Amino acid sequence: MDTTEALDMPIPDQLEETVISGKKDIDLTTVGDYTTENPRMKIRDVNVFYGAKQAVFDVNLDIGSNSVVSMIGPSGCGKTTLLRCLNRMNDTIDGCRVEGRVEMDGKNVYARKVDPVLLRARVGMVFQKPNPFPKSIFDNVAYGPRIHGLVRDRTDLEEIVHTSLERAGLLDEVKDRLDQPGTGLSGGQQQRLCIARAIAVSPEVILMDEPCSALDPIATARIEELIGELRKNFSIAIVTHSMQQAARVSQRTAYFHLGYLVEVGPTKDIFTMPKHQLTEEYITGRFG
Ligand SMILES: Nc1ncnc2c1ncn2[C@@H]1O[C@H](COP(=O)(O)OP(=O)(O)OP(=O)(O)O)[C@@H](O)[C@H]1O
Ligand SMILES: [Mg+2]
Repeated sequence: MDTTEALDMPIPDQLEETVISGKKDIDLTTVGDYTTENPRMKIRDVNVFYGAKQAVFDVNLDIGSNSVVSMIGPSGCGKTTLLRCLNRMNDTIDGCRVEGRVEMDGKNVYARKVDPVLLRARVGMVFQKPNPFPKSIFDNVAYGPRIHGLVRDRTDLEEIVHTSLERAGLLDEVKDRLDQPGTGLSGGQQQRLCIARAIAVSPEVILMDEPCSALDPIATARIEELIGELRKNFSIAIVTHSMQQAARVSQRTAYFHLGYLVEVGPTKDIFTMPKHQLTEEYITGRFG
């Protein structure tokens, strides 16, 4: 059976193997324009390895200013790995090696002189599971501005905490209990607290790794609305398993498969007229 026939009749637990073995027959070169006007970050020829195992292959992708790019694709295709390249979170993983360039404002973020802690203040991250510190709501948001010395006095700090909570759409719900533990909030509130914590240091880029997967539809809608607001000031890259969410929040979508960026383009084009066979199969629910 040739690869095309195999893909026409997907058998879920055998499909991945079929595609791997048929990789030489399926062109995995990126389809679509991976560049964008006004890029804030550029990923160039990036390969990522965990020990001897390669997880990301030759990826090129721009992260645009004041825009949201969704990263979608089947589990294990390298979305989280690639996202973590952008703020060098992979540095913290033993055995993980990144090759290639990731640029911010034309400078390689992997250059030896770059301090990853300062980079992570410019490129913030929000994780799948909200992870507030075991501290008060106030101190969760105040943490970054304090360690980065962004405030002169208590008044400055209060101002940043209030503004960040307000922009994250959480202030009204917590303003009377800022001294209570962040861990005592609901899941959706905790995720907005983590977003407030990320934006308190005025990052330029926010990375979100499935930020709504633990949330109910109401909390999800709230976060999606917030992403639309945040886009006015920040650049956002979001990993999501929900194609509806990608369609609602992002201007560009990147489809990954087995570590390759298979297709990238304007979100509406990816969902209405995908060019690559693998993208089409994924978005029509035949795979992934
Ligand atoms: N810390 C690690 N050590 C070794 N291998 C890893 C590690 N993290 C990820 N991998 C491997 O790298 C590949 C890509 O994983 P990654 O977590 O980036 O995928 P993903 O697209 O985010 O998947 P999911 O949708 O399930 O979150 C997988 O094969 C995974 O097993
Ligand atoms: Mg992941």
